[in-house]
Amino acid sequence: MDYQYLMVSQGDNGIETLTVNRPDALNAMNSDVVSELIDYFSAVEERSEVKAVILTGAGEKAFIAGADIKEMADLSVLEGRKFAERGHKLTKLMQYCRKPVIAAVNGYALGGGCELALSCHLRFASANALFGQPEVGLGIIPGWGGTQRLMRVIGPGKATEMIISGKRIDASAAKQLGLVNEVYTPKELLPQTTAFLEKVLQQGPRAVALSLEAINHGMNLPLDEGLELEANLFGMSFGTEDMREGTQAFIQKRKPEFKNK
Ligand code: CAA
Repeated sequence: MDYQYLMVSQGDNGIETLTVNRPDALNAMNSDVVSELIDYFSAVEERSEVKAVILTGAGEKAFIAGADIKEMADLSVLEGRKFAERGHKLTKLMQYCRKPVIAAVNGYALGGGCELALSCHLRFASANALFGQPEVGLGIIPGWGGTQRLMRVIGPGKATEMIISGKRIDASAAKQLGLVNEVYTPKELLPQTTAFLEKVLQQGPRAVALSLEAINHGMNLPLDEGLELEANLFGMSFGTEDMREGTQAFIQKRKPEFKNK
């Protein structure tokens, strides 16, 4: 699929940067943007040349300013439901991706933009980033996972506060809440995110994938079932060549050479 609104830039380190590029609308996601993102995240798991993904927004002002309000304004009840379901399809593809997906939040992350960031495995932000779920001000509720994922990341009290007030929070408040892991200057955001991922890519790739699976599927489970999932995935890691290499390298006091096998 040729993309109109996504810029895909592949580094020689296997880290692909995916930029939502609709700066005239502060990268707000119309249905074409959503289709392109669904296409990208449906395919990325099978693309062996891609080891990790950074999601960011074009320009200096916005990560993603939400779903396209102009497109949403005339939806019927059933269309509204479908609109939410498409967002869920996308955010689940991102959440359950077995390659690290990191949001580099470089400005407004509002509504669906905040929800997309929440579906990434981690969030780094630039100092000018602003987060919020302003949907109640439009007479709607967050519909791409915000009512469910925000509380899982920052707890129900703070999530409720953000959602029912629609208030925006800045990057340092987001860091205090655990909504973002680190805050950098706008210039440093992508280099620092890349540097973090380069460290991740030195680890056993199978183990990273299994960890993501354990965390992102386990998050929705009661503890006992989550522990069972962990035991199964831990067991699976013993079937990988990477596990033999990682443990032997430790014993032989050398650096491991992982093959993602
Ligand atoms: N949808 C459609 N267009 C948008 C948009 C959005 N979410 N956000 C910004 N734009 C457009 C504006 O309409 C404007 O276009 P025009 O020049 O054609 O008028 C352009 O982007 C620039 O925006 P502003 O002039 O408003 O820029 P600003 O600097 O004054 O304000 C802002 C920036 C505070 C982000 C403001 O644009 C804003 O409040 N945007 C809407 C944010 C929002 O409510 N997002 C949630 C959407 S609902 C949702 O996402 C539901 C869900 O859960 C899936």
